[in-house]
Amino acid sequence: MKKIVLVGPASQMLGLKIAQELGTEAINTEVKRFPDGENYLRINIEDETLIANKEVIIIQSTGPSSSGNQNTRLMELFMMIDSVKRMGASKVIVVVPYLAYARQDKVFRPGESQFANVILCLINSLGIDEFYTVDMHAPQILGECSCKAINIDSMKLLANYITSIGANDIVVVAPDKGAMERSKAFAKHFGENVPVDFFTKERDVKTGEIKMTGTLSLKDKDVVIADDIIATGGTMATAIKLARNSGANRIFAVATHALLIDQAKFRILKAGADEIIGTDAIDNEVSKVSLAKIIADYLK
Ligand code: R5P
Repeated sequence: MKKIVLVGPASQMLGLKIAQELGTEAINTEVKRFPDGENYLRINIEDETLIANKEVIIIQSTGPSSSGNQNTRLMELFMMIDSVKRMGASKVIVVVPYLAYARQDKVFRPGESQFANVILCLINSLGIDEFYTVDMHAPQILGECSCKAINIDSMKLLANYITSIGANDIVVVAPDKGAMERSKAFAKHFGENVPVDFFTKERDVKTGEIKMTGTLSLKDKDVVIADDIIATGGTMATAIKLARNSGANRIFAVATHALLIDQAKFRILKAGADEIIGTDAIDNEVSKVSLAKIIADYLK
């Protein structure tokens, strides 16, 4: 079946690279906002038969940027899925490298929604055939999808990049205990006996404020602090300060999804990071590691 890649407005570079990896045609979209704020999207084609009977791979991340917030990105995604289904695509594969709302996977306070699950249910309900995301905050909720749903692991790629820039004598530090398992798996990509440790983080569920404590044995070590998401940079900056106080040599702040909201970059670098490293799940200046090949490999 002939494949076609539909590059969403939030993933222009990554989408095109994936199409190149797959050797398929790439098409894009036209988007705008109506005066009342509603989103508009059309697939940028004049002949709807281009989509009929094709396997359509939609690439659309849903992180916030100056050209669209998470809600806009999700609406655009829903519109793309609906358009290609209506035009008779025979298979619809959806790739959302960063899935917005994924952190809302639990009810912390009475009255909250478990909205991460709702987002997946909505995407799944549009009748897609396959769903892919990358380093999802709580991958177990992919169980909401009745279609094939895969969480792609980018850790090897991130580790290869860090090794390529000369990091050595590495300790991997998790910014909280919950991230330990992921950090242990991450550390294995640097070698068999690379130590892994964690700081203790508590977040006030009402204010969102975090408190982090701990002193680790990091003297003269290159420290890799790995998280799935950097949003405000508060978690990362606090962990970096503690790592500095623990005698670290170089510090690499690593996240698959470096959203870098507001002054996050400043906070992280001022706290003492030598470099911020992210993937092109989020298209910004720290997207140093491309997911194009690994995603394409899943789609081949
Ligand atoms: C939390 O569980 C996540 O894994 C990240 O640690 C968190 O989302 C980072 O947020 P921020 O950068 O705002 O501290």
